[in-house]
Amino acid sequence: MKWLDGRRPDPKPCREKDLGRFEITIRDGQARLGKLHTAHGVLETPCLLPVINPNIRTIEPREMWDKYGIQALITNSYVIWKHDHLKEVALEKNVHELIDYPGIIMTDSGTFQSYIYGDVEVGVEEIVEFQKNIGVDIATMLDVFSRPDMTYSQVEDAVDETIKRAAPSLETAGSTMLNGPIQGGIFPELRAKSAIGMSKFDFTVHPIGGIVPIMEQQRYKDLAKIMLVCKSRLKPSKPVHMFGCGHPMLFPMLVAMGADLFDSAAYALFARDGRLLTPWGTEKIAEMTEWPMITPAISGVTPAEVRALPKSERTEILARFNLEITLQELSRCRQAVRDGTIWRLAERRSHEHSALREAFLWLVTNPAKSSMEPIILDDISASKEIGEQKGRWEENWEWLLNAQYTPRNGCETWGGIDTHHRPHIVMARRRLFTRWRSTSPGDVLVLHGAPAPWRTKVGDLIERLVSQDIEIMVLTPLGLIPWSLEDLNPWAQIEGPDWLWKRRPDMMWIKSELERLGIFERKILCMDISEGEGLHQRAFDLLKIEESERDREMLNRWQIFDKLVVLNNIHPNDAEEILEGATYVMSRTDRVKNVIHADGRHLFSPRLAEGGISLTIEGAKWAHSLRQNPIPLGFGPEGIINNCAGGIAWVVVDDDAAPFIRQGRTVMHGFILGCDGWVRPDETVLIVDKNGNLLGVGRSQSTASEMESFTKGIAIKTREGLPL
Ligand code: GUN
Repeated sequence: MKWLDGRRPDPKPCREKDLGRFEITIRDGQARLGKLHTAHGVLETPCLLPVINPNIRTIEPREMWDKYGIQALITNSYVIWKHDHLKEVALEKNVHELIDYPGIIMTDSGTFQSYIYGDVEVGVEEIVEFQKNIGVDIATMLDVFSRPDMTYSQVEDAVDETIKRAAPSLETAGSTMLNGPIQGGIFPELRAKSAIGMSKFDFTVHPIGGIVPIMEQQRYKDLAKIMLVCKSRLKPSKPVHMFGCGHPMLFPMLVAMGADLFDSAAYALFARDGRLLTPWGTEKIAEMTEWPMITPAISGVTPAEVRALPKSERTEILARFNLEITLQELSRCRQAVRDGTIWRLAERRSHEHSALREAFLWLVTNPAKSSMEPIILDDISASKEIGEQKGRWEENWEWLLNAQYTPRNGCETWGGIDTHHRPHIVMARRRLFTRWRSTSPGDVLVLHGAPAPWRTKVGDLIERLVSQDIEIMVLTPLGLIPWSLEDLNPWAQIEGPDWLWKRRPDMMWIKSELERLGIFERKILCMDISEGEGLHQRAFDLLKIEESERDREMLNRWQIFDKLVVLNNIHPNDAEEILEGATYVMSRTDRVKNVIHADGRHLFSPRLAEGGISLTIEGAKWAHSLRQNPIPLGFGPEGIINNCAGGIAWVVVDDDAAPFIRQGRTVMHGFILGCDGWVRPDETVLIVDKNGNLLGVGRSQSTASEMESFTKGIAIKTREGLPL
């Protein structure tokens, strides 16, 4: 947007009661778009805070605000404190005037200087007091930097000392928001200790500290491990800042793991050395005939022309280029979160750089190795060193898996072997394996050779087979899916080359898939359905049975039964009972649209786009009546598959919220008293009061720990309330 006289209006302060609160607006697994509320505007995350050196300004902060729309930046309070000419202005006016920037200003504390120069002469309380006095929005306590080359006990001292400084720093900061950095070097136990220890205090943001040398040495695998171990132990309601991380190449992976804020001096530092940042690495202008990407900063000039400029002009152009590329990659990440494709972006980017690929492969294989997911080997066998850390990493990976939502809308683009490791696919498969149970004891018919929708090819045949004692499965590139779930995403929405479907079925794989579905030692019959010609006869010959009548009713019942069991955690006996005598309203495309109980109540509505199923309030009343577990008046431990067949998760809300929920209004964070540990984003939940009375049914937007931790934002999108 062009502003009158080129000036963007100053930001509006947040509502006073929201100051310092963080909320999630959109999520994709653990990746999130959020809002941090401050006195200088609402910061939309994930975002980049460019580093401003108050002494050397490559791009003016005012221009960052007006031209680039940058909502927040970071500068160093220690540098201001050290230089009298800066200190005086900052104290007399404030930091916003000192650097002429109306947006949010975060300051660092001098810790990084102590890492570079050995020590700083400022006190723990003194530097926080100073930051408060110059009016920064988010100050940073003086943490103790932990380097990757330090011994365990040196790092432990840094962690302990940082935790010790937390209370006096917070007390000094008063109402000024404060960063509480996480240290711990490359030791997972110490990262965990730091994250747990610092989480006990009310910091506004938790930066991950001590990672600059790790990134400089391109130890991205260590970075991924650190991120996973820290993030899974920090309160989800606290935004996480990656201290000193400004290389766009790292953004997708870190955003996918829940990073909210980045800061970058890289745009200016690299520019000084004639280097360009790109989403795939760093390139030198000295060796360049063409630009790697065109941005406003360099449009109309060639690399040779920029090389010929005096150093300061060249640096400025390259710094602008670097900033534009960096901002662009973050926009791409945010859009990917909206589109539900952030992991795919991280996956694609991982192919651009060997160290990043190593980190990515470690993430998707090692933590999962000891969990239920099989390892599909390719270049993955390179990453073997899980050793004694097995249990620990598995736990961290569970944290990432648990936040995935499935089924999703839209197609699942095939990305080679990596596709199997996408966390939402792992999650979808795991849910299937733990909840689905075979109901036919006979032979297994495996249909293969064609992409979905399979019903248009073999729907009629299946209706004739459904009353036989046969377990019907479809072989997809993501594994087997029971026919009853033939429209379920991601299995039914894979988009990829033809050969994916044409491959000869691998019997070993089919057997192992069946075993994971609880089917052992059965006769397996494979049938190619790519050709429609003579399909019925081939099937009956193969199965050695007589052609039978179509039974659509039974097929409908079977499909709804399995959706209730797999997607809603309903006990099979309960699902069977409720569907006794049910009738089905069909869509124009001949699919079940509504499920009507024998007594006429509309209970469920399958979601035709992605194969899910929604409960009406009548369906919710029934599911509510099945409850065996006590009312969850606290927050159970998070778990993906705990309490299998234990029913739909309950969320208990405050009495103040009850009338609104009964009217169908959303459940906001801050009104939740407890929930079952198996609450997951996008899954159906029953909303109840503290006595267990049903108030409504909705779809959770959160995990259990988010319900416990957040005080702002939407927790549950209510589908229907239950009026009194
Ligand atoms: N800047 C880069 N790394 C760090 C860190 O670990 N602590 C602080 N305070 N600032 C940093």
